[in-house]
Amino acid sequence: MKISILGIGYVGLVTGVALSEVGHTVTCIDCDLEKINQLNRGISTIYEPGVPELLIKNMNQGRLYFTCDIREGLADNEIVYIAVGTPENNDGSANLQYVEQAARDIGANISRDTIIVTKSTVPIGTNARIKALINEHLVNRCTIEVVSNPEFLREGSALYDAFHADRIIIGAESEAAAEIVENINKPFKTTIFKTDLLSSELIKYASNAFLATKISYINEISNICELIGANVEDVSVGMGLDQRINSQFLKAGIGYGGSCFPKDIKALVHMTNSLNYQFELLESVMNVNCSRQQILLNKVKRRIGNLNKKKIALLGLAFKPNTDDMREAPSIMIAEILVAEGAVVTAYDPVAKENAEGVISRLVNYSDSVIEALTGADAALILTEWDEFKSLDLRILNEHMNEGILFDGRNCFSLEQADAANIEYHSIGRKS
Ligand code: UGA
Repeated sequence: MKISILGIGYVGLVTGVALSEVGHTVTCIDCDLEKINQLNRGISTIYEPGVPELLIKNMNQGRLYFTCDIREGLADNEIVYIAVGTPENNDGSANLQYVEQAARDIGANISRDTIIVTKSTVPIGTNARIKALINEHLVNRCTIEVVSNPEFLREGSALYDAFHADRIIIGAESEAAAEIVENINKPFKTTIFKTDLLSSELIKYASNAFLATKISYINEISNICELIGANVEDVSVGMGLDQRINSQFLKAGIGYGGSCFPKDIKALVHMTNSLNYQFELLESVMNVNCSRQQILLNKVKRRIGNLNKKKIALLGLAFKPNTDDMREAPSIMIAEILVAEGAVVTAYDPVAKENAEGVISRLVNYSDSVIEALTGADAALILTEWDEFKSLDLRILNEHMNEGILFDGRNCFSLEQADAANIEYHSIGRKS
């Protein structure tokens, strides 16, 4: 099929690359000229394993194009994906200005019957709004159908997820439109579940909120583990062996971050509030998540006392490994509090330094290696579970730090490993 994608951010680019890889001809449209120029030179605009290779391959094979010209980008294509961002408003609701602009642009530029496929995460009812807006702005007579097709890609493994999805959700008004989008997605060889528009929109939010609930749940359990001396890693394994529970997203730590969970959960709570429904469970999920960073810092303070002038090494800044994304990363708040309390903070992250500089306290120093960050430190904090940290020989802590004291916010090591290295190891939900 010939497909246009409007909005070449994270979701748009991964979707474009994946759709072209399975044989569709894809034209990606974005108003950011610099971004389009870079992509036209075959250089990926996001840090995502596998994207650079498939980008070049599909461009060379004539299946993947990039343009700033919306009219040219939409010409001839009966399928238009919307993949623009839906950032957070101050009140927690989703900001729909880019989605609405995309709808107006589509209306003004299409000249044939078109199926609009919404990939952007949009509040319940937005697809109907998109359809109305496009129809309001139509210049040529054509029929519009909207289809909700939420994405479930994880940053850092987005391409893997695209080709190994557990399911593809298609919400549509008509069986005919649903079938067309189903055919586009058949090459991904996974379960396709078709439903109505509103249910599809809610599936996206309900899924992210459920995963976040699992995380906050295990984080609460980790607090109980600390009170009674149990081991949260074992509790997760034991719980996860029940297939109804499953071990994924039961990793205790310093809380969920990123561009999706925090934003989507707030948006869902905001949506339900506007329906006069108080989603108490999700409010607790958010509150638990907000407490996670302070819980780690309290451990640091209990052990090393006043933080003033103490040298603290932060290992990892990105909100999770294999990404340079700093959005809503727990490290931001941790660094902020450390700096406010007078600590001298040195951070090392394999790839997120550049993005961190824009969002994290300007008083944080950066180093180019773990050892450089650890040198002379009074305490080290692991904030992102990069493989590089997990494979560290912990004995280097005693060699390079004032004292080998590690606060592991992501449980990267077993208690036995820490013991064997003779370091002082504090982790989450386990005995110190
Ligand atoms: C999440 C969902 O997993 C995707 O399915 C969804 O498509 C995406 O949001 C989205 O809405 O676009 P992502 O934000 O990339 O994907 O990252 P996750 O791997 O889900 O991790 C989110 C956060 O939860 C990270 O900060 C991670 O450290 C944390 N986490 C995850 C835990 O603290 N414990 C866990 O057991 C799992």
